[in-house]
Amino acid sequence: MLDTINTLRAEILSSQPASSEQLEEFRLLYLSKKGKISALFEAFKQVPTVQKKEIGGQLNALKIMATERFENFQQSLALLETSVVADDLTKPSQPFLSGSRHPISLVRKEICDIFSRIGFTIYEGPEIEDDWHNFTGLNFPLNHPARDMQDTFFITSSPDILLRTHTSSVQVRAMETQKPPIRNIFPGRVFRNEAISARAHCIFHQVEGLYIDHNVSFADLKQTLLFFAKEMFGESTQIRLRPSFFPFTEPSAELDVSCSICGGKGCNVCKYTGFLEILGCGMVDPNVLDASGIDSKEYTGFAFGMGIERTAMLKYQVNDLRLYFENDIRFLHQFISA
Ligand code: DAH
Repeated sequence: MLDTINTLRAEILSSQPASSEQLEEFRLLYLSKKGKISALFEAFKQVPTVQKKEIGGQLNALKIMATERFENFQQSLALLETSVVADDLTKPSQPFLSGSRHPISLVRKEICDIFSRIGFTIYEGPEIEDDWHNFTGLNFPLNHPARDMQDTFFITSSPDILLRTHTSSVQVRAMETQKPPIRNIFPGRVFRNEAISARAHCIFHQVEGLYIDHNVSFADLKQTLLFFAKEMFGESTQIRLRPSFFPFTEPSAELDVSCSICGGKGCNVCKYTGFLEILGCGMVDPNVLDASGIDSKEYTGFAFGMGIERTAMLKYQVNDLRLYFENDIRFLHQFISA
């Protein structure tokens, strides 16, 4: 009897029903009341009691195996029947929604592309900074309000570790690690402890620029920024530099561009001034050069820094900063072909 069970097991294991008809034959042959397994159970009644335990176990296992095999074949055949058959390979495919680049990424790329055309290369630094790179190396006096808890997210104190409040911190790293001529732009995320509103956010993006060489002058700065403004906002764009103050530049200025919405005539976006402020800039303060190991008697340089959100707001006329962070698909899809 054990031999018959073994032969039947091998037979069942080698059978491969490939259609519902063959599966029905399999069922009739092995699992039905008149099938081979039932016949064995019939014969089992004659088995001497001493062998019943062993043979009974084998017989039950055989039945379970045959039933499982039947069910598996049944499932895979059902799957095959419901799967779609490619009846016309020339049919147009199902449309699918493609994503779009985020407007901040688009503007960051555009800014970096414009400066790379005149020899600036990208240099990136960490978002978690120390006091030296974010403040002290940039000539911030110890009691400067920007160091205050109200503006800066501190992670630890003594030593002061913080989330960088501007990408000017990367300037310091670039000066510490390279020798002039240095011509870099530093794109990145910055953090300030501000209440979120249409005009302010605690996370935003900046691009900083730095050029250090022999005889770099304010005229070079002005010409570079004029080139940038025309490339970014159009050939007819005019620029205006207003004196300002930053601890790390001397002299310092703010750059205004003629309003691209009204063409400089005056509208509610430029508050009827015809101009919009887009960045801060100036000649790198000699203290900053010397602090990073660059001889201020030999070299001069200029730096500038702009907010990417602000530039994007002007470019796309989006007047609420929060839209850039909400990832509302209706907003993002407007940039799909940009
Ligand atoms: N770091 C300044 C800010 O976050 C922007 C800035 C101003 C950068 C003047 C500069 C600069 O490099 O020269 O507001």
